[in-house]
Formats: sequence, C-alpha cells, structure tokens
Amino acid sequence: MTSSVSVLGCGHMGSALLKGLGSSEEFETIGYDITEDTIARIEEFCTRTTTDITEASTADIVVIAVKPDTVPAVLSELSLSSEQTLVTIAAGVTREFVMSRTNADVVRVMPNLAGQLNEMAAAVSWDHENQTVSAMLDELGNYVVIDEAHMDVATALNGSGPAFVYYLIDAMRQQAVEEGLNDTAAKALSIQTFIGAAEMVRAAEKSIDELIDAVCSPNGTTIEGMSVLFSSRVEQQVGEALTAATDRSREISAEVSHD
Ligand SMILES: NC(=O)c1ccc[n+]([C@@H]2O[C@H](COP(=O)([O-])OP(=O)(O)OC[C@H]3O[C@@H](n4cnc5c(N)ncnc54)[C@H](OP(=O)(O)O)[C@@H]3O)[C@@H](O)[C@H]2O)c1
Repeated sequence: MTSSVSVLGCGHMGSALLKGLGSSEEFETIGYDITEDTIARIEEFCTRTTTDITEASTADIVVIAVKPDTVPAVLSELSLSSEQTLVTIAAGVTREFVMSRTNADVVRVMPNLAGQLNEMAAAVSWDHENQTVSAMLDELGNYVVIDEAHMDVATALNGSGPAFVYYLIDAMRQQAVEEGLNDTAAKALSIQTFIGAAEMVRAAEKSIDELIDAVCSPNGTTIEGMSVLFSSRVEQQVGEALTAATDRSREISAEVSHD
C-alpha cells in the first residue's frame, strides 16, 4: 500500500529527502514551501507540490524540514491527527517540544544530505517503532535507533559529518595535485578511495587497526604516511570538530526550548 509523505520546507535537506523518495513506488511525495522558486526547483522529483500548508498536512507522514528557529511557527499552523506521524529533523528540536504541540505520533530523525542518493545515514528516536517511517528510512539509506539523549552527538556525526568527510576527500585531492597528478584523476581517485575504504570497513570482520595493518607493509609507503598521522594531532582535531558540532546542537536545543 502506498503511503504519503509531505516535506515542509524544500531547502537543502527537504529537497534531498524528496529526491531520494522520488523513485519510490511505496511513497507518494508532497513538497511544500513558502517560496515559489524553491517549489519550481523540486517539482520534478515530487508527486505534487503545494504552497498550501493545509494540503501538505493531509499526508501519512509530515516531515518538518525548516530551520530550527522556524519550527515553532510551522507547528502552530499544523493540526494533525493521532493517525498521522510528524517527523522532526531540525537540529536541537526535541521530541518533547514537538509532542506538546501536536496530536500526531512524533519521531525525531537526524538525516543527512546523502538521502538524495539513497545513501543516507540517519539516527532515529521514537517511543515505539513506526513502520511507515522505517520503510521511508530504508528507502533513503540506513538508519539506527538511538536514545534521544544522544541526538546532539548524532547531529554532529551523521548530520554534519558529510562536511567533515568532504573536507578530508579534498585534502587528499589537493595534495595529490601538489605532487603532480592532474585534478580530474586526483579527484576521481580520492573519491573512490573513500567509497572503497568505507565499504571495506562495513564488510570486514577485522577491526580498523587490523585494516590499517593490512595496508602497511614493512618499509612500504603506507607506513611512512601513517607515521605522520600517528604522530600528529589529526585524530584529536577530528574529535574536536565533532565535539564543537555536538556542543552547537546542544546550544540550539537550549535556544529553541526557550522560545
Ligand atoms: N542541511 C543539512 O545537511 C541538514 C542535515 C540534518 C538536518 N538538517 C535540518 O534540516 C532543517 C532544514 O535545514 P536546511 O539546511 O535544509 O535549511 P534550508 O536550506 O534553509 O531549507 C529550509 C527551507 O524552508 C523554507 N521555509 C522557511 N520558512 C518556512 C515556512 N514557514 N514553511 C515552509 N517552508 C519554510 C525555506 O525557504 P526560504 O529559503 O525562502 O526561507 C527553505 O526553502 C534544519 O532544521 C536542519 O537542522 C539539515
């Protein structure tokens, strides 16, 4: 049976969800935004689009994909029934905050932009499994269920994380170009190396240390490069980036809950 999903706010994240669900046979999608130009950009990926929130409010799953500070205003315009599901993806906006403003079943999801390629990593918190939301997230990529207390960490890890990874892909590309490789080859090899390495980590029964060891032949090239990383602060600094994003999510949460 087909379910309907409306996405309120078709910016970066909302449009990624709509694009990812665009090829689904299980879901029909409704894109809602206040800006006509935004609607025009997303139209081809949606079953239908609207600038009328009442029409967008009829879906089985209503996803709020506006900036955290706009969430209270959008919630005040919605009147959903207990048969419906409200998915909130806004950084720092708690389930409790949303639940006190709707009759719908509330699920909090921290998605990421890879949803547009059906490769999304999502963290979910809910009171009980919501099978329609599970099916939607399966369509968009992979998800894990977490305790909501850890949602700020997930916001940093898989919400902000793609930017950290883009940065690392580009650092490898740039230095390969410095070393003489042409930009097209450097970019292609850097990207595929990240994809292949991530797939190896997913498939392997070995630990990350064992995987590193398998690339590091004695007196070889990898061990020379790894020695630079092992004696650097890169690991701590990547950790500090994750913590800075986690702290900002906590701050946003405090700001939104004081509205
Ligand atoms: N971007 C990410 O990678 C990412 C990852 C995880 C979670 N999120 C969460 O996703 C949410 C959206 O982020 P984003 O990056 O997609 O922001 P965004 O690009 O600014 O998109 C928000 C969209 O909502 C529209 N909008 C503003 N007020 C509205 C209203 N009252 N009703 C309907 N639409 C309205 C905006 O239109 P105008 O531009 O015309 O104002 C814009 O098209 C945020 O809460 C964020 O925390 C984002």
